Amino acid sequence: MKKSRPQLPSVPHHVAIVMDGNGRWAHRRLLPRVAGHRQGVESLRRCIRACAERGVKVLTVFAFSSENWNRPSDEVSGLMDLLATALTREVPELKSAGIRLHFVGSRTGLSDRVRAGLTAGEAETADNSGMVLNVCFNYGGRWDIAQAAARVAEAGEPMTEESLGRAMALAHVPDPDLLIRTGGEQRISNFLLWQCAYSELFFSDHLWPEFDEAALDDALMAFAQRERRFGKTSAQVAPNRSQALA
Ligand code: FPP
Repeated sequence: MKKSRPQLPSVPHHVAIVMDGNGRWAHRRLLPRVAGHRQGVESLRRCIRACAERGVKVLTVFAFSSENWNRPSDEVSGLMDLLATALTREVPELKSAGIRLHFVGSRTGLSDRVRAGLTAGEAETADNSGMVLNVCFNYGGRWDIAQAAARVAEAGEPMTEESLGRAMALAHVPDPDLLIRTGGEQRISNFLLWQCAYSELFFSDHLWPEFDEAALDDALMAFAQRERRFGKTSAQVAPNRSQALA
């Protein structure tokens, strides 16, 4: 019998995800790695819908890192093809679901076909006012900090947290509240280094193609139970809870 969806006391405004484990999912089935990425696209579709249904306002996913160029060339071209195909197939559905798509990352080195797809996907959904979906593609956290610093310097502005923050690639959304990484590894891998300063981290053992609604709910439930202090004390942020424990 299908488990009913748990009542979540609070839902993170912004969820970011490192979708790891596609390669292992494929390997276990004696399939090529790109078959894992293809299944990863299906998992991403399910996750987008589930996040929107649960009231998440911003979802940011890591689809291709600056370092992924170092993978075997057939895997890199497979990922590029997958993106171009997914854009053609999914954008009409994203558009009708009210989702606003942003691509975050460097466009240098991408083919004309992929670049045109990214631009068209953003333009097609630009008037939507539902969940924001940021797809980090050819993205690295260090690249983002460096490009922000270069933009601030070029504008001749003083280099401050505020000016850098305004120049970062995710300046159009608040910082992630929850960062999920699937696939069992516990590291950040050059994702959102600036923006995750105060994000809650959740590591799931599910491989990304198997990360279903129940696994998402486990992450959201864990988030709801965290006490976020932002450098303050527990007594400052939750005086009632602190008194009860005293
Ligand atoms: C990491 O798993 C995953 C990636 C490098 C790609 C993520 C891409 C998707 C989920 C598909 C959506 C992407 C596009 C282009 C629309 P891994 O390959 O490192 O897995 P492993 O750790 O098991 O080897």
